[in-house]
Amino acid sequence: MNKKELRKVMQKNRKAIPLHIREEKSLLIAKNLLEHEVFDIQKNLNLKDKFVMVFLNFKTEVNTEPIIKRLWKMGIKTCIPKVNVKEKTMKAIEFKSCGEVHIGAYGIREPNLNSPEIDIHNIAISILPGLAFNKKMQRLGYGGGYYDKFLSQSKKDIKKIGICFSEQIIEEIPSEKHDVKLDYIVTDFEILG
Ligand SMILES: Nc1ncnc2c1ncn2[C@@H]1O[C@H](COP(=O)(O)OP(=O)(O)O)[C@@H](O)[C@H]1O
Ligand SMILES: [Mg+2]
Repeated sequence: MNKKELRKVMQKNRKAIPLHIREEKSLLIAKNLLEHEVFDIQKNLNLKDKFVMVFLNFKTEVNTEPIIKRLWKMGIKTCIPKVNVKEKTMKAIEFKSCGEVHIGAYGIREPNLNSPEIDIHNIAISILPGLAFNKKMQRLGYGGGYYDKFLSQSKKDIKKIGICFSEQIIEEIPSEKHDVKLDYIVTDFEILG
């Protein structure tokens, strides 16, 4: 299967997970993710003044609200993507409160323009959505290559963590040179990496 065909199948599979199960799984994902040692401020001193890039979930994605709210409680600063559809690029914008968003491109909630842009070198951890992931730390996105492009500008020290429902872990993902590899993948069932 090529990327395009696989995206279709994986969209359908994720849609088939009932909402209440997705919500339950999202809570488990938040727990598994935040218990990971990269979120331990004592061990990852980087986090003290750097940002965690999160995304605001869209349609049937993992609900990231529990993650974002817990990060804020932990005193960790967050930023979220703002995409430029014409250029097919994205940038990171500081995200401090749930009221700071509006509906943007593709119907995705995005940050208001008055919040500051965050330099990629100030991001310690990037949490990525996706349609499929595998044990080789590969990711299938939605086809825009937004994260591949954005993260290609970063230094090696940014930790990249994919989050998804266990149903989204598959064996093979068609991969190209530009596809960024992840450091960890966190599901409701396991942590890979
Ligand atoms: N680092 C990059 N520089 C320039 N273009 C890129 C880069 N990464 C990805 N792209 C472009 O984005 C397109 C989509 O990437 P793809 O990996 O298929 O999507 P996704 O990661 O969203 O599943 C690629 O065909 C390529 O043209
Ligand atoms: Mg890609």
